[in-house]
Amino acid sequence: MSPDQPTAERSLDPERLKAYGKLVFGAMGGAVTAAMIHLGDRLGLFRALWKDGPATSVELAERTGLDERWLREWLRQQGAAGVLEWDADERFGLSPEAVVTLADEDHAAFGAGLFSQLPQTMAVLERLPEAFRTGIGLSYDAFGPEGARGQERGFAPWYRNLLVPFAIPRLAGVKERLEAGAEVADVGCGGGVALLELARAFPASRFHGYDISVHALERAERNKTEAGLGNLHFHHAEEEELPADERFDLVLTFDCLHDMTRPQAIMRAIRKAIRPDGVWLIADVKAHPTYAENVERNPMSPLMYGFSVLTCMSSALSEPGGAGLGTLGFHEDLAREMAREAGFGRFERLEFPHPVNAFYEVRV
Ligand SMILES: C[S@@+](CC[C@H](N)C(=O)[O-])C[C@H]1O[C@@H](n2cnc3c(N)ncnc32)[C@H](O)[C@@H]1O
Repeated sequence: MSPDQPTAERSLDPERLKAYGKLVFGAMGGAVTAAMIHLGDRLGLFRALWKDGPATSVELAERTGLDERWLREWLRQQGAAGVLEWDADERFGLSPEAVVTLADEDHAAFGAGLFSQLPQTMAVLERLPEAFRTGIGLSYDAFGPEGARGQERGFAPWYRNLLVPFAIPRLAGVKERLEAGAEVADVGCGGGVALLELARAFPASRFHGYDISVHALERAERNKTEAGLGNLHFHHAEEEELPADERFDLVLTFDCLHDMTRPQAIMRAIRKAIRPDGVWLIADVKAHPTYAENVERNPMSPLMYGFSVLTCMSSALSEPGGAGLGTLGFHEDLAREMAREAGFGRFERLEFPHPVNAFYEVRV
């Protein structure tokens, strides 16, 4: 509905008031259900309901050692919200769709990781009013170590399931180069899961991750040590810039350009770091050039604009003069134009399956 008339001249419609209340308090319901999903993930409740089957609160208490009364209320909330299935005996369980979304961390559709940093994400609400006054946002480190773990768990399922078997073979010549021994950089690498997958699959190649988040880099180092990989190195991007000697055969930027304060400068640095015959794979949020298109064509746009204020745009404005693109700010036309400005002549959108991201193959 457009605000075509001043509010004072518009009469209050009781039916519309009811519908509007439903919309606003439904949003609160969504937030509370998300908080309960966070608890279910954190306490291992979805896994318990998956591995050992549907349960009453008494049975779930026996399985988990948690307090029955608290579990009963949690189960009832998740049942009422439709997250869990339930029967007349108040036995609660997971549908096959719920299993892959909330319990099976190895599945490509696993999404509970996105909920693990909910407390840290919401905690910045205390600091954001100041950002509205000053214009300066918060970098990813504002969410602490748990924030970095949440980012990693949110993005990892795609990397683990699809990067090596699906995405790499679709980039002409890249698999062969990685098998023979190539130099690879992941800029904005987070906890390094994408590089870990590649480093394991292509032992003849060398991999370098760059990020500015201390917490993400700590996780990346830990992940590397646990995996026992020697062909993988992580760098703090502010202390060690990308080398300007055209050495990389493959550069990755996954879900990070829209978060950067200076994405155009990073793209120019990538041009200097990549070989003239190198490949740059961009994954970034599917977005459209106008606000109206984003709202009309993307049912997740309220979530995305909200994430933008809480994390992405905040990060992209975390220093004075930041570009502030935000979650839905790096649409294909802009990406193409910025890549051209950085010195790249070829830009192709790839049809990779992903609920949120678009993929672009960029070459000199
Ligand atoms: C949404 S996370 C994505 C992380 C990782 N690519 C993934 O998919 O899991 C965005 C990352 O970009 C990093 N970042 C932001 N600005 C950066 C910059 N100028 N250079 C390198 N990394 C940056 C953040 O610290 C954060 O780890």
